[in-house]
Amino acid sequence: MRIVRLAGEDDFDGWREAARALAGAGVPPEDVAWQVGLAGGETAPLPAPGTPFSVPRAFLTLAETVVRHSDPERFALLYTLLLRLRERPGLLAEGSDPLVRRLERMAKEGRQKAWRNEPARALTGTMAETSREAVGGNARAAWEAVREEARGCTRCHLYKHATQTVFGEGPVTAPLMFVGEQPGDQEDLAGRPFVGPAGQLFDRALGDAGIDRGQAYVTNAVKHFKFERRGKRRIHSKPDAGEIEACRWWIEQERTILRPTLTVALGATAARSLFGKAVTITATRGRAHALPDGGGEAWVTVHPSFLLRVQDDKEAEYAKFVADLVRVRQRLEAIA
Ligand code: URA
Repeated sequence: MRIVRLAGEDDFDGWREAARALAGAGVPPEDVAWQVGLAGGETAPLPAPGTPFSVPRAFLTLAETVVRHSDPERFALLYTLLLRLRERPGLLAEGSDPLVRRLERMAKEGRQKAWRNEPARALTGTMAETSREAVGGNARAAWEAVREEARGCTRCHLYKHATQTVFGEGPVTAPLMFVGEQPGDQEDLAGRPFVGPAGQLFDRALGDAGIDRGQAYVTNAVKHFKFERRGKRRIHSKPDAGEIEACRWWIEQERTILRPTLTVALGATAARSLFGKAVTITATRGRAHALPDGGGEAWVTVHPSFLLRVQDDKEAEYAKFVADLVRVRQRLEAIA
């Protein structure tokens, strides 16, 4: 058994250096004992680095976060995954792999621990149980870390053809969150949500409803543009249930960090992502709903692109949308 001694509980650099050398020399996971600090048995020098190999960037981001977790097995689990990735580089995208799922869960908890500065034990509560004050001032740093991690997202196949991940934007202290469907053609190119035609209509409606977009957080249920090519044009294509589910990982991170008082689902895809099941707009529109994640209340309205498409009563539909937003503003003023 080879003992690797790391300098501290979250010694990512030490783990990485050792893991590289061990993997390069073909040392199997069961032959390595990972220890932290000075106590323990004799350590052996690391083997000379073997043939260099590369791992997906997403793995390093995952590993960096997982080492913040308190699970004593974290270093060994990461090393096992590293070896498996050499055989199957696409493994991280297989959301069903139990090791990947376990490490992703640990990454989430490790991240929460880092920005709340609390022991991991306290992080098992729902969002509703954890007060905003407990969150401390590190929310922005946590959000930036998640956004960075999302850049390398391969949780579903959509990353392959999109230009980039389009993450949410807005103040992390915003009490109001808007969730759209997915970036469109222009958002995909700009890397920002709701900047194309639907975004412009959305901005107009927000203005008419007296809501300052700069004070809200705006994001999408799915973070990569899904489209079909027709000649030179890229035609929007609706994300399916699997893609929405795969991307819920990111919106859950955004919601855990922001903990908005009120969340507005713009259309059915957003509502499906937030409620974890299919809901119809007509049955849910215009009133408050509890969210399964315990994080504030949700309101549902139409997607702005519906207003671009609709042929009959265009103005009336727009007025209804603005009326929904006014109700949201009034509700927020009452409860925030
Ligand atoms: N439609 C969306 O749902 N989101 C965007 O960011 C743009 C268009």
